[in-house]
Amino acid sequence: MDFTLDDELAVLRDATHRFTEEEIIPVAAEYDRSGEFPRAIIKKAWEVGLVSTCVPEEYGGVDLSVQGACVASEEIARGCAGFATSIMCNDLALTPILVGGNDAQKKEWMELCATEFKLGSFCLSEPAAGSDVAGLQLQATKEGEEYVLSGTKAWITNGGEADFYTVFATLDRSTRHKGICAFVVPRDTPGLEPGKKEDKLGQRASDTRVIHFDGVRVPASQRLGEEGEGFRIAMQTLDRTRPSIAAVAIGIAERALGECLDYARERQAFGSPIANFQAVQFMLADMAKDIEAGRLLTHQSAWMVDRGMVASKQSSMAKCFSTDAAMKATVDAIQIFGGNGYTREYPVEKLMRDAKLMQIYEGTNQIQRVVIARELLTH
Ligand code: CAA
Repeated sequence: MDFTLDDELAVLRDATHRFTEEEIIPVAAEYDRSGEFPRAIIKKAWEVGLVSTCVPEEYGGVDLSVQGACVASEEIARGCAGFATSIMCNDLALTPILVGGNDAQKKEWMELCATEFKLGSFCLSEPAAGSDVAGLQLQATKEGEEYVLSGTKAWITNGGEADFYTVFATLDRSTRHKGICAFVVPRDTPGLEPGKKEDKLGQRASDTRVIHFDGVRVPASQRLGEEGEGFRIAMQTLDRTRPSIAAVAIGIAERALGECLDYARERQAFGSPIANFQAVQFMLADMAKDIEAGRLLTHQSAWMVDRGMVASKQSSMAKCFSTDAAMKATVDAIQIFGGNGYTREYPVEKLMRDAKLMQIYEGTNQIQRVVIARELLTH
């Protein structure tokens, strides 16, 4: 076993670290306040190879491994999790094409994202079906060589900014997961309309919206896989992308720990820096051990995905553990900062708001526990 990053990943980590220091950290608080989408900076991230990283080399892409995506995501999230979510969303939107697409579909979308700055969205969740994917209601009605999509998607990352959407819809809701199909739908398709931008608690730099589908006509050539394969495509996608979500959480926790170490050395109470008190030291120690443990789980799950192994359980473990760890670390960070931590003058309250979303999206942590428990009980 080797616990060090190889040379290529170490170079990627250092380059992403520099990008985050120069481009993201100086503006993160401002984008958090305004809730604007940092399109120009995301474009710069694409120019240096940090967006659409899953595009294989044969299509001109960066062809980053999932482990590489985790290394980059952790660094970006140290700067701002909202930026990380916006950036990673492209791999989430492209992975269903890699998992279920045919050669022509892969060529079209992979080459496009490698050669041009394009954003994608992954449209799975709905107002009445977040955790219960098999219960989704977006209707796909077959008419000749086309499908007509009608219904609504909700909490869609990059929803108002995307150039294309990977969309999951059902041919027949009564058949649950067996009726679900996946499609790629370009933004300019008539009837596809992004709704109002959500005013979120955290990760405010990311764009989250409802997407309305009103009789959206999609040629059968834009269906990924066979009819009824959409559920499997969605699940296999999430197995591959959850390690990066875990990595974002580790980045948030790492930033919280760094801020707390600086603050605890400076801040005086009872005639001494608060770093001298065990009550503070124990919180710092817990953050550090959880970061290490979360990072190990994250890299193990990514390593498995990169080797083509079934990694549902490990991906869910990494996502669940790391995002819970980030939540605890950021709540403790506010405790260490005391009254200062509760104000917007200091960076830790933003970290806590950003961390909360990590326990909810790409499958709530309750769903991750369902996946883990099922694996334990059925194998
Ligand atoms: N890989 C391959 N096949 C899988 C699979 C996987 N990981 N998981 C399940 N399947 C297969 C099963 O083997 C089963 O196959 P058969 O038809 O042969 O029996 C079939 O799919 C149905 O599986 P289940 O019976 O397990 O399905 P379920 O309805 O009980 O649901 C669930 C399972 C795990 C709860 C699933 O609904 C789920 O993952 N929910 C969470 C959804 C989620 O993560 N949403 C996040 C949205 S994306 C987002 O947040 C992104 C963003 O914008 C930031």
